[in-house]
Amino acid sequence: MSSPSTNKGNAPHQPTVLITGAAKRLGREIALKLAGLGWRVAVHYRDSVEDARQTVADCQKLAGQSQAFRANLSNESAVRQLLPQVVKAFGQVDAVVNSASTFEFDDAKGFSFEAMDKHMRANAGAAVILSAALHDHVSEREGAQGVVVNLLDQKLWNPNPDFFSYTLSKAALESANTMLAQALAPRLRVVGVAPGLTLTSTMLTPEKFQAMHKLSPLGRSSTADNITQAVAFAITNSGVTGTTILVDGGQHLMKFDRDFSML
Ligand SMILES: NC(=O)c1ccc[n+]([C@@H]2O[C@H](COP(=O)([O-])OP(=O)(O)OC[C@H]3O[C@@H](n4cnc5c(N)ncnc54)[C@H](OP(=O)(O)O)[C@@H]3O)[C@@H](O)[C@H]2O)c1
Repeated sequence: MSSPSTNKGNAPHQPTVLITGAAKRLGREIALKLAGLGWRVAVHYRDSVEDARQTVADCQKLAGQSQAFRANLSNESAVRQLLPQVVKAFGQVDAVVNSASTFEFDDAKGFSFEAMDKHMRANAGAAVILSAALHDHVSEREGAQGVVVNLLDQKLWNPNPDFFSYTLSKAALESANTMLAQALAPRLRVVGVAPGLTLTSTMLTPEKFQAMHKLSPLGRSSTADNITQAVAFAITNSGVTGTTILVDGGQHLMKFDRDFSML
């Protein structure tokens, strides 16, 4: 697939990307970045309906067509319906960005199959099903190639036992990133992007977030802009597959005994 930058407006092939968890936060930033590069964006969301509407409106201003799609990614049947729904609405899909993520605290002692299942389904299983679905879809078009970008986490290279089930699910997704690149080539490229601490959460005060963000060899972790640039690179560089780009200011090179929110 060529760079979409020349495909703005009513060009015959304006590429389409499905971004999961795109109503707000990093998913929304990725949506705006790719819309700015001329991509039509299918905005997936689960609960954030108003935010999804806003992201769609903002993407429409940048690239024309955009539409929201609701699905609980823990539900296999909902996941299986998602890509066909996007294909029906847009006619063609060229890329999937798996950004949605369930992120709930547990630790080794509080671990349960229920928590593991919830994280595994939404964070790893859904990405595998969407990748296979994109592969089937692009295979219908002669010579077409698609791309999947999986949002990972620097903590896979710098593990700590907090958010145990979340981390297990991201480790599974990182392995899936390799196996999908093997299984679905040459039709599909599969690339991971692993952010460091980028956006704050309800678990961190603004002051603590700033202090944690500075804890890296470069003196700051990743910004949303750093992440969206990496996703755009992964999507447009036809030579990259089966690897992960760490975008974290070098945080993975340091040792943290606890999750940032617990330090
Ligand atoms: N933010 C960071 O600093 C950071 C650091 C390292 C890695 N990452 C990774 O980067 C990606 C984006 O981060 P983020 O902070 O923007 O994510 P986030 O805010 O934690 O989650 C993004 C969206 O995921 C959706 N989601 C969660 N569970 C779902 C489910 N079962 N079905 C469907 N949607 C579900 C939610 O959509 P609704 O609101 O619509 O329900 C949520 O808004 C994630 O994969 C994350 O692991 C982020």
